[in-house]
Amino acid sequence: MQKVALITGTGGGIGKAIAELLLKQSYLVFGYSRTNKIKHPNFSFTKIDLSNLDAVKQLQFPKESQKDILLINNAATIGSIVPFDKKETRNIIQEYFINLVAPTILCKKFITTYPEDKKLLINISSGAANSPIHSWSTYCATKSALDMLTRVIAEENHKNLTVFSVHPGVVDTNMQSEIRNSDPKNFPLLSKFTDYYTQNELENTNIVAQKLLHIIKNSNKFNQNILSIRDVSIN
Ligand SMILES: NC(=O)c1ccc[n+]([C@@H]2O[C@H](COP(=O)([O-])OP(=O)(O)OC[C@H]3O[C@@H](n4cnc5c(N)ncnc54)[C@H](OP(=O)(O)O)[C@@H]3O)[C@@H](O)[C@H]2O)c1
Repeated sequence: MQKVALITGTGGGIGKAIAELLLKQSYLVFGYSRTNKIKHPNFSFTKIDLSNLDAVKQLQFPKESQKDILLINNAATIGSIVPFDKKETRNIIQEYFINLVAPTILCKKFITTYPEDKKLLINISSGAANSPIHSWSTYCATKSALDMLTRVIAEENHKNLTVFSVHPGVVDTNMQSEIRNSDPKNFPLLSKFTDYYTQNELENTNIVAQKLLHIIKNSNKFNQNILSIRDVSIN
């Protein structure tokens, strides 16, 4: 049976790594982001800016009956790293759209597009969902809300659906370099994040992708809906 994965944010980082790993596992992969570097006969790319509400509303997932289908809501932005009173309203709106409104709409589209198919829904969240981090107001708030969305969807026990929020840990991606490039006047934790980098403590995207694959392949073995990649062993 052909396995199908729909993944947002395949332009780089964790999304690109898991898309490439699933292609190696013979999945048909559909990627949704603003840019694309993946070239593979089983990869279909849709260029979309997830901060554009109309584009998200109009997006249609592939319609044919899939039998076994996966959605990974992975795309997100750390947003402007400034204290809350300095946050520009247009940035607040854009960051909520990318991190929360778009994934929420896509969760709904996923469940309603494939009512009879076996579905796995993974929302990529963050440890920031549980920790108030200075100057990350919208990021912490949207990830916290995404985790609660996961829990409510799980509570509703939708037909043929398994749902997780996954916290990937601190991973070597463009998001971390954006954090390291923030203004120390606005971000008191900057040295902690530069230390992760200089002390080689950032996780590699390929390891994170392998652990996500383990979750995908063993989805029936997890009792919790909120998972931390750090707790997943692949050895
Ligand atoms: N890296 C970490 O340490 C870390 C820690 C905890 C959680 N996470 C989570 O992991 C997930 C992946 O992040 P990452 O670390 O891989 O970051 P990343 O390298 O910055 O990747 C972000 C992805 O989201 C896409 N994206 C961003 N804005 C978009 C927009 N407006 N419309 C469509 N796509 C957009 C980007 O593709 P385009 O630029 O092509 O659009 C890119 O593929 C996120 O949910 C993040 O919150 C990461």
